[in-house]
Amino acid sequence: MKEVTIPGWKKGPVYFSPKIDSTSDQLRILAEKGAPPGTVIWAGKQTRGRGRQGKKWVSPSGNLYFSVLFFSEKNIDPSFSLVAGGAVIKALENEGESNLQIKWPNDIILNGSKVGGILCENFSGKLIVGIGLNLVPMDFMVENNSFPPGNLSEFQKVPGEKIIGCILKELDRDFWIFKEKGFFFFREELVNKSFLMDRRVQVDDLTGRVASFGNQGQLIIELPDGSKKEIWQGSIFLKEEG
Ligand code: BTN
Repeated sequence: MKEVTIPGWKKGPVYFSPKIDSTSDQLRILAEKGAPPGTVIWAGKQTRGRGRQGKKWVSPSGNLYFSVLFFSEKNIDPSFSLVAGGAVIKALENEGESNLQIKWPNDIILNGSKVGGILCENFSGKLIVGIGLNLVPMDFMVENNSFPPGNLSEFQKVPGEKIIGCILKELDRDFWIFKEKGFFFFREELVNKSFLMDRRVQVDDLTGRVASFGNQGQLIIELPDGSKKEIWQGSIFLKEEG
């Protein structure tokens, strides 16, 4: 790994590796050896990229893979992955992509296809946020994913450090706001960016319509009998109407 510069990121060192097992795993090793907050690992490709729930994150070259380290005296709530998704979307919107949405709890969606994902992992007062964004076409990206893979091809020619710099800026600001104010501060913004809002979905054995996010980032589903159910974790599948 070599140390590189990311425009606008002065909070910690940034290391780039053309090929790595997983940026999040390597960052954890650095963190356990005392890496400072703000340390970033960025890789050209990953041989053992990980998604949520232990799934494999397919990571060929041409896409963006990076992880950043934050410190926190207490565990950061899982709802931060939605907030981090919102930060990624804001950064890419600033760079000209206006059609992005977030799919609870951690997917970045462009025109109905998954183009990125976020993995937040807490350990001993530290948080690693790992972000993967597809820029090149993908046949397959994460095991058992309910969404077809898409890509942000318009960013292929943009230097990776520029995109990562924009994302880190938004993410860092939102991390500090989240720590102070919690999910509620972001709730409305994220409801407006949510791909699932008002759609019929299935989660485990429940089918219903997505009504909102709760104040702690839980998904609120309205069941056919009009009652509301809060979903705190799980995978959401779209249900065709009818
Ligand atoms: C998901 O959608 O399940 C989350 C995917 C997160 C992938 C990123 S790529 C950079 C970082 N390193 C990993 O091994 N995973 C995350």
